[in-house]
Amino acid sequence: MPGQAAQPTPPDRPWLNRDLPPEARARAAVAAMTLDEKLRLVFGFSDQALTEVAKVPDDVVSPELKTYVVGHLVKGSAGFVPGVPRLGIPDQTQTDASMGVRNSFIPSTALPSSLATAASFDPAVPRAGGAMIGAEARATGHNTMLSGGINLAREPRNGRNFEYAGEDPLLAGTMVGALINGIQSNRIISTIKHYAVNDQETLRTSLDVTISAAAMRQSDLLAFELAIENSSPGSVMCSYNLINGRWGCENDYLLNTVLKHDWAYKGFVMSDWGAVHSTVGAANGGLDQFTGFCCKDDKPWFAPPAIKAALQSGAISQTRLDDMVERILWALFAKGPVDDPVKPMPIDYAANAAVSQKAAEESLVLLKNDGDLLPLRGVKSIAVIGGNADKGVLAGAGSSDVTPVGGAVMIDTHTYLPSPPLDALKRELPRARISFDPGTDLASAAALAARSDVVIVVVTRHNSEGSEASLEMVGNQDALVAAVAKANPKTIVVAETGGAIYMPWVGQVPAILEAFYPGIRGGDAIARILTGKVNPSGHLPISFPASPGQLARPEIAGLGQPDGTPAEVLYDEGAAIGYKWYDVKRYKPLFAFGRGLSYTRFALSDLRAQPDGKGIKVSFSIRNVGKHAGKGVAQVYVAPADWVKAGWEAPKRLGAFAKASLKPGKATQVDLMIDPRLLGTYEAAGNNWHRKPGTYRVLLGQSSDDQMRTADIDLPDNLWSASKQ
Ligand code: GLC
Repeated sequence: MPGQAAQPTPPDRPWLNRDLPPEARARAAVAAMTLDEKLRLVFGFSDQALTEVAKVPDDVVSPELKTYVVGHLVKGSAGFVPGVPRLGIPDQTQTDASMGVRNSFIPSTALPSSLATAASFDPAVPRAGGAMIGAEARATGHNTMLSGGINLAREPRNGRNFEYAGEDPLLAGTMVGALINGIQSNRIISTIKHYAVNDQETLRTSLDVTISAAAMRQSDLLAFELAIENSSPGSVMCSYNLINGRWGCENDYLLNTVLKHDWAYKGFVMSDWGAVHSTVGAANGGLDQFTGFCCKDDKPWFAPPAIKAALQSGAISQTRLDDMVERILWALFAKGPVDDPVKPMPIDYAANAAVSQKAAEESLVLLKNDGDLLPLRGVKSIAVIGGNADKGVLAGAGSSDVTPVGGAVMIDTHTYLPSPPLDALKRELPRARISFDPGTDLASAAALAARSDVVIVVVTRHNSEGSEASLEMVGNQDALVAAVAKANPKTIVVAETGGAIYMPWVGQVPAILEAFYPGIRGGDAIARILTGKVNPSGHLPISFPASPGQLARPEIAGLGQPDGTPAEVLYDEGAAIGYKWYDVKRYKPLFAFGRGLSYTRFALSDLRAQPDGKGIKVSFSIRNVGKHAGKGVAQVYVAPADWVKAGWEAPKRLGAFAKASLKPGKATQVDLMIDPRLLGTYEAAGNNWHRKPGTYRVLLGQSSDDQMRTADIDLPDNLWSASKQ
């Protein structure tokens, strides 16, 4: 681990000299490698290789390589790339994903969903979470985490929105950057994924996304750019879909022009599992490592024979192959796996569960609390209804799902983490009479509600990789909420969802707590917030539409088509995602981006804005004007006087944000910077960012639809290159 006494560098192995920069070490290692050794690093296997690689012809994967792979991969993990023992280059042992180590043979600590921790609006939360799951990855023998999901919530129905950080590029870039920093603080590699514009699951492996360069740079790519600047992930995972006619994993514009040239990215591009469609096109298009081979359906595009043939013909240059290997080695040297090889270590699961619970307590969003029904005080009888609240809390499905310590509770194939809100409430309120009803029979639930002081009804919405979810609740849940609320007006809804949902009963209930997927101690976090032990401080990272008519597209492209069907989607909303879309269309969402209530109140004042370099420096004061200690989230938006003339995608953008923890009556001054890219537009012609001259309004509030304090500032014309080279 870090701080280990460095071994003296053997003179014949300069690449092991920790005093050299990683790029020099990578170059030296490549110079010492044979061709076959280089080819080991660019071709990775999935854990199915354990049983399947033997069936691959020996002239594709040599018998000795098969033996090595089978003998070294971590059973149940996502991927394995053989190293070069002769040179001290370790294997790459790859595990999913952003909520924890995913390995059905190794129980792990599940964080809340990434969407939930984005709701904390505090980068310290995903950073601590990343540090924890990265430590568990290292302790279980994994030196690469396939984490850092950051695709923007362009499509509110996207089945993987729970794995990502919402709809705004600044929030997502900040929070996912923090997660990656946390993971990599364990001296292992993290990815960032799925590059790029993989914003829906329907037909994800065949959908061709059409979107302008400017729209990409000002939305999906800006999130990646900010996160990569914040965290320098060792690897970028290219996506399944096509973007403007080219596969994500051979998209020369995205991989070579934007990522490796303009952003000067030094790490390596790995494929998503099964996302490679060629040898030469992919290698020259910017892919550095084919990952997850095995063995039946995907073709061994980067297996030794294929690469050797391409080298032989000159279709792939030796320089390009060396660059592929150097990038992989750069990450292995720069992020720690070479100098601090992973090895099994004890794990403090109790401490790690506490990290997950703290993350949830910072993230749950109090959406409504009429009459200050919450926190529960002096309540004698409580009905807890539905949501399998007696069994656990819901988690998302797919490659990010974690086999939790304590074992998952599987209900209708859905994973519930073993943290029942019912039990947690009983622990928090030992003197209250707390009864449970599963909510399957409306009359029974309503009867229990009627004879209780207060009702907590839990609704769930299961989301999964590989499919889209409508925003309607499934089953009888809407009817259940309506029936219970009718029987007892003191009804609180707790929502365990992968993202936004419609709430037809929103006017019938006084209190709503959005818990998203709250992680391995989610029940405790829910109970501690409902009982006031914790003051909620989450704010929505994703808008909640009021109805289907507010969505950018009525139908999800390709919905209902068999996987692999070629399809196209034109993202003509461009960069106007989420609250930006609602501003452009003048829609009023059900709940706005940035919304989040507290058991206390905060006041913002003394807003000042001044030019600072190409950006804007903003300062203001936030005061706790309520009766309870709490954390307020101040959001700074920015708007040109005429957003259409300025060429913006929408009237305003989130320019900065900060969370402040304050006792009643206390205040603090906050100083923030608005990044110049959030003031400009991207001009493809010259590959520049361009901030038009004029008056810009700085808006300060506690949600995107808040009554804002404002400050106007005049800025001159400014044009600068989008390339760091
Ligand atoms: C999946 C996912 C990706 C994951 C990989 C390995 O298909 O798209 O996020 O890391 O395969 O499991």
